Amino acid sequence: VPGLDRAAYMKDRWGGLQGLLNRREQRFVARALAAIGPVPRILDLPSGRGRFTARLRAAATAELVCADLDPQRLQALADAEGPAGTPLVLRPVDLLDRLPFADDEFDLVFNFRFLHHVSDEGVRAHVASELARVSRRHLIVSYYGGSPIHGMQRHLWLAASGRRSNVGLISGRRTRDLFAALGCRVVEDRSMLPVLHAHRVMHLEKASG
Ligand SMILES: C[S@@+](CC[C@H](N)C(=O)[O-])C[C@H]1O[C@@H](n2cnc3c(N)ncnc32)[C@H](O)[C@@H]1O
Repeated sequence: VPGLDRAAYMKDRWGGLQGLLNRREQRFVARALAAIGPVPRILDLPSGRGRFTARLRAAATAELVCADLDPQRLQALADAEGPAGTPLVLRPVDLLDRLPFADDEFDLVFNFRFLHHVSDEGVRAHVASELARVSRRHLIVSYYGGSPIHGMQRHLWLAASGRRSNVGLISGRRTRDLFAALGCRVVEDRSMLPVLHAHRVMHLEKASG
């Protein structure tokens, strides 16, 4: 099925503006991983078809767990990855449930392009608390940052184009506060495409003890 092939998906889905965003996201992640240094265990949830698998696999010295609700995406990821390298573990996991991992099980928890799909604050708080619970130290989380101006622009654009959107915008301050309440401080918080796009990425560090 062409839609399930990772290379074909990257070509179809990640052209144009999305291609530019992808390059910027990859650059942010490469720099954050270099700053963190090699770590034993990484969780990528949701991994999708594995846009970041090669990078994360190179950074994990013991194990990379790729988890997603959709087993077909996990299969596409497995088909695109070779057997060489850090062992890869694939897990079907629902982020809306309690995660099937122990407290502090991973050195880095990677959650990319998921939070903006969650517009309910209670659900967002649950997801954030589960991600923080299973991380021993680092989290890399992406979100769509909202500001009153951006919200207004978006509202006008949606009204003019007749489109509907369920995207959950959340300001940088609220995202920071959400994770601060879970004992995580912001190491870096960066826009992926200032002015033009709301996508932002945060590197957070959990206080030990
Ligand atoms: C936009 S994709 C992002 C994939 C990857 N992180 C990336 O940045 O390329 C969103 C992913 O979330 C997964 N997903 C949706 N709902 C989920 C849930 N409740 N639990 C876990 N994964 C979910 C989808 O299957 C999809 O692979």
